Amino acid sequence: MSEEIVILDFGSQYTQVIARRIRECSVYSTILRYDTPAPEIAARRPKGVILSGGPASVYAKDAPLPDPEIFELGVPMLGICFGIQIFAQYLGGKVEPGQEREYGKGTLTVKDAGCPLFRGLPASLQVWNSHGDRLTKLPNGFKPVAVTDNSAYASIEHKGKQFYGLQFHPEVVHTPRGREILGNFVHGVCGCSKDWTMRHYRDQALEEIRSRVGSERVILGLSGGVDSSVAAALLHEAIGDQLTCIFVNNGLLRAREAEVVQEVFGRHFKIKLFYENASKLFLKRLNGVTDPERKRKIIGRTFIEVFEQATKRAGKARFLAQGTLYPDVIESVPIAGNPAALIKSHHNVGGLPKRMKFGLVEPLKCLFKDEVRKLGSELGLPREILFRQPFPGPGLAVRILGEVTPKRLEILRNADAIVVEEMKASDWYYKIWQSFAVLLPVRSVGVMGDERTYDYTIALRVVDSQDGMTADWVKLPFALLEKLSSRIINEVKGVNRVCLDISSKPPATIEWE
Ligand code: XMP
Repeated sequence: MSEEIVILDFGSQYTQVIARRIRECSVYSTILRYDTPAPEIAARRPKGVILSGGPASVYAKDAPLPDPEIFELGVPMLGICFGIQIFAQYLGGKVEPGQEREYGKGTLTVKDAGCPLFRGLPASLQVWNSHGDRLTKLPNGFKPVAVTDNSAYASIEHKGKQFYGLQFHPEVVHTPRGREILGNFVHGVCGCSKDWTMRHYRDQALEEIRSRVGSERVILGLSGGVDSSVAAALLHEAIGDQLTCIFVNNGLLRAREAEVVQEVFGRHFKIKLFYENASKLFLKRLNGVTDPERKRKIIGRTFIEVFEQATKRAGKARFLAQGTLYPDVIESVPIAGNPAALIKSHHNVGGLPKRMKFGLVEPLKCLFKDEVRKLGSELGLPREILFRQPFPGPGLAVRILGEVTPKRLEILRNADAIVVEEMKASDWYYKIWQSFAVLLPVRSVGVMGDERTYDYTIALRVVDSQDGMTADWVKLPFALLEKLSSRIINEVKGVNRVCLDISSKPPATIEWE
């Protein structure tokens, strides 16, 4: 097992960022709820504990508070922002509402160069603040080690217990040397080695999969996306032909999608692959349907049906594997300020009916997306798969407004292929979250040569985002937009107009349906 840092989550929007930064230091980190009982934390034998920030005030009636026994665990602790207030609350300090909220850039001056958190760093550092309450009396045994203009206690230390507090956020990019501060905590203070690497994880995961699965068979729904692809490659390395992948062609895929998946997984990796071409069935059921939610429901239901039948034909399997990631399993702390729930019905294999009795194998369950990509690269998956942009389960159906017909699908597929090609050629494809074409089934008048045309419109949707929850439209260079527009209009029959979607999310969504 890898050495572990436990992060107690007090509801900060940055908790996952802390976890990722620690892992970037090659140290494994786990997020637990703020009120996890101390014996449960002790049982994990962590090398250190981090108290995250959070939107609450320690004095609020329903403030999230930890088990007081955590201060007796005998391991180093780091309190970030709200975490410092927790120290104050339990260890004899005092917190008061600040005159005004300290928010944004600040300059930290390190007063005690001997403090291990700041080893190797200059005495003056740019930091990011975001707090209302502030420490006015140090907790017992602590001394100040760094200050900002507004705070004499921007960083504090209890040398004997190895407790440290930071009023600012070292995990965000606006604290440029923050990674080094966190690195100093996990390596210098907690004594963690750098044992969390994807090579190490891969060996450990292979062993775990083999011992869980034994000689049983495993089914995996392969979508061609990053997560299911990496899960497939990992499982195949662990159990070879005991794994069967099912790939459903719903007729709503992008150009060459089905071929690439068969090429990479069937021919290259030699994975046992069931290719279910159910295009006709999907398109028949979508015939005449225009309502977006109904389309999604029909596609979701049909997928489950086709998948279930395929699993029966694939033979008796005891396990179902899924590419669930860590952010899906972290229990979110129900504190005001957390992001709202998704507003569209997403269809994922997770929604299989109860009658399908499988044990679950989720070998990516403790990984973040960037770690999944690193693992995939260890396993030899091509860049084309590992760094592809997200693609919705209901596919092109949610990018054709109104009815989905074979003719419209063909038009959109052709336009989409040009978008992908040009975005890759100009090096923009991998820099941003998503770039794709949307078909608007309204006709407008145009002129081509001497002829009048009456054709569809393509909208270009190009957005950047961290996690898909919020997004902003990307300001592509005019030369690239010009190229996209002229190629689509000239090469795609049925299109005579191209528009650019310049809406952010919210209030718009990324997909159009
Ligand atoms: P929206 O349109 O809700 O999309 O702003 C946010 C992100 O989710 C993707 N998306 C889906 N992914 N199944 C998926 O697996 C779906 O049904 C689905 N709908 C949207 C979308 O591409 C974007 O990245």
